[in-house]
Amino acid sequence: MNTHLKLPTNQPPISPTKYKGIRCIIHHPVIDSTNEAAKRLLSTYAASGTLILADTQTAGKGRLGRTFVSDSTDSIYMSLIVIPKLPAEKLPGLTILAAYAMSAAIDKLTGAATQIKWPNDILLSGRKIVGILTESVEVEENIAPGSRAVIIGIGANINNESFPKSVGAKAGSIYMATGTKTDKDALLALFFEIFFREYDKYVKHASVASIVGAYNQKLLGNGSEICLIPYSRTTTAADPYSISTEDLPTYTCLGINADGDLMVRDSQGQTMPVSSGEISVRFPGQPV
Ligand code: BTN
Repeated sequence: MNTHLKLPTNQPPISPTKYKGIRCIIHHPVIDSTNEAAKRLLSTYAASGTLILADTQTAGKGRLGRTFVSDSTDSIYMSLIVIPKLPAEKLPGLTILAAYAMSAAIDKLTGAATQIKWPNDILLSGRKIVGILTESVEVEENIAPGSRAVIIGIGANINNESFPKSVGAKAGSIYMATGTKTDKDALLALFFEIFFREYDKYVKHASVASIVGAYNQKLLGNGSEICLIPYSRTTTAADPYSISTEDLPTYTCLGINADGDLMVRDSQGQTMPVSSGEISVRFPGQPV
């Protein structure tokens, strides 16, 4: 892990915190987006292991330009900044690690059996309970020369009792699935413990080999038929469905490899990796 690189006097001090691997916590009762707050912070200050937490967000961002409804204090909204010494093509592996660590932490703490929709959605009882938006930004020369900071933004629905219709029937929470309230702080502590244990290995070996088996056991659709859709063809609220999964070829899902790529087999029996930066998974019969 990098050490403190530049610390303006108006920023909180770097010191060990109650969370393993976290050296600085910035808490906002309300913020537009913790990922955006992380980007603003990175223009003046860069320390690997900075955590930005918010009780609610007014402009939560999801992947593919979608919005992420973030108005409940029963959820966790956070962005973790790390500055790993890794080549750019290795950065998507961090999203795989974050999904695995959060899924494993939820299971261990609650006894639930969460699943991961590759690369980084976490589902419980068929509903999405965690979404992850990872972004990377070049850090200014005078802040951390030659470095790329990675912002791992996580929205996790913990104790929510219901969701507004606008969020749809797909969203769930740990509470909705288990009927038991979860201590958010205990979950965060366990998440960081698992994440940084794996992060340290990843920075050393640039491989997710140590979690491949466990990740694949959690992988939704592993061993089954899946459809692959380029991100450029996925839909947003502003751009309603234009194709259906019936228009897409199917592949057999073989699980992730040590790079975090999804291995699939096509109808000709050819096996290939697909990269999370380009492809989204759908299941036959599901809307695109
Ligand atoms: C997705 O499922 O599309 C990703 C959702 C990511 C949401 C989190 S909440 C904390 C962080 N700040 C944001 O604006 N987005 C991420």
